Amino acid sequence: MKKLVFALCASAVLLVTLATTAEAAPDYEGRKKCGSCHRSQLESWEKTAHAKAMDSLAPKAKAAAKTKARLDPNKDYRQDVDCVGCHATGFDHEGGFDPKAPNKYLTGVGCESCHGAGSDYRLLHRKAGQAFEKKQQTMPRQQLVEAGQEFGFEERCNACHLNYEGSPWKGAKKPYTPFTPKVDARYHFDYARAVRNDQAMHEHFKLDKVFTGPPVPSFHEEFQSKATPGVKGRED
Ligand code: HEC
Ligand code: HEC
Ligand code: HEC
Ligand code: HEC
Repeated sequence: MKKLVFALCASAVLLVTLATTAEAAPDYEGRKKCGSCHRSQLESWEKTAHAKAMDSLAPKAKAAAKTKARLDPNKDYRQDVDCVGCHATGFDHEGGFDPKAPNKYLTGVGCESCHGAGSDYRLLHRKAGQAFEKKQQTMPRQQLVEAGQEFGFEERCNACHLNYEGSPWKGAKKPYTPFTPKVDARYHFDYARAVRNDQAMHEHFKLDKVFTGPPVPSFHEEFQSKATPGVKGRED
């Protein structure tokens, strides 16, 4: 009997551990949440190539580029699992883009493609924003990292831009991007240059400095020194 009770307790502990581990991975939620507080970034992002990435998968769109990369310009690739991983947000992850039930807030390369799945850290943004407003209290960025927010960026860019056979990036695996420097030299990817490309990246707006300390992203100071005041959105 004692043994049985012990075994039951042990499996209960194991179940609880498994449940909390599963809970620990944040979900993708889509840009509507982010945009409700960061309206300026959302409106700026909407004008970028990243926002329109899903449109490139439609039949007839970018026909010449597709032909050159040996794709079929008349085919509809918008539900193709070999494409949507890089042209939508969070494909194959909890809460992320599902080609069978496309959610319009997850189409294109959205906020969470670069900043990380947001279900946990966005709650900290709310909390920190309120504490800052009331008491000028700040929060360490490290807490956001623990909730799944990305500050390194480069690996995320690489996973889409440098994911092809023979790539200098070590993480490359199928499905690969059809648009490689071999197809056309203009597909060459240089992080330091690309992250400053304001056709592709949203504009930067001045932060109140609610979050402090490491990790500070590369070019953070540069972006903030040129940033303009933004409009904060309503909360949902
Ligand atoms: C309830 C409002 C709210 C929501 C929702 C929200 N944020 Fe924030 N976020 C804030 C506030 C407040 C700050 C602090 C801004 C400041 O320092 O001026 C912040 C800061 C940030 C920063 C800058 C962090 C730094 O290094 O200082 C990023 C990046 C960001 N948010 C991205 C996002 C993304 C992506 C989402 C959606 C997953 C999101 N936020 C959702 C309120 C929100
Ligand atoms: C989820 C995949 C994904 C991630 C992550 C991603 N990109 Fe992209 N990026 C794309 C796709 C797809 C396009 C092409 C959009 C289109 O035209 O259909 C693109 C386009 C661009 C372009 C424009 C290229 C041109 O020829 O005009 C730049 C610059 C760029 N990305 C930079 C970055 C940087 C910098 C990062 C990281 C901070 C990043 N991207 C993260 C998928 C991604
Ligand atoms: C591993 C990520 C990845 C996959 C998978 C992927 N793409 Fe892309 N795609 C990109 C990136 C990154 C770019 C931007 C390249 C650039 O401009 O530097 C892009 C750009 C494009 C463009 C625009 C090219 C141009 O010159 O404007 C089209 C069209 C496109 N992709 C279609 C597809 C189709 C169709 C598939 C599936 C068969 C696919 N992609 C799969 C990452 C990917
Ligand atoms: C292609 C990658 C990419 C996408 C997509 C993206 N961001 Fe960013 N974002 C960045 C980078 C890089 C920075 C600069 C980080 C820094 O300076 O700390 C940044 C900075 C920010 C900041 C800090 C203040 C500022 O303006 O620099 C906020 C807030 C933010 N992003 C919100 C968003 C929201 C909301 C979306 C979606 C509508 C979004 N981002 C989409 C890459 C991206």
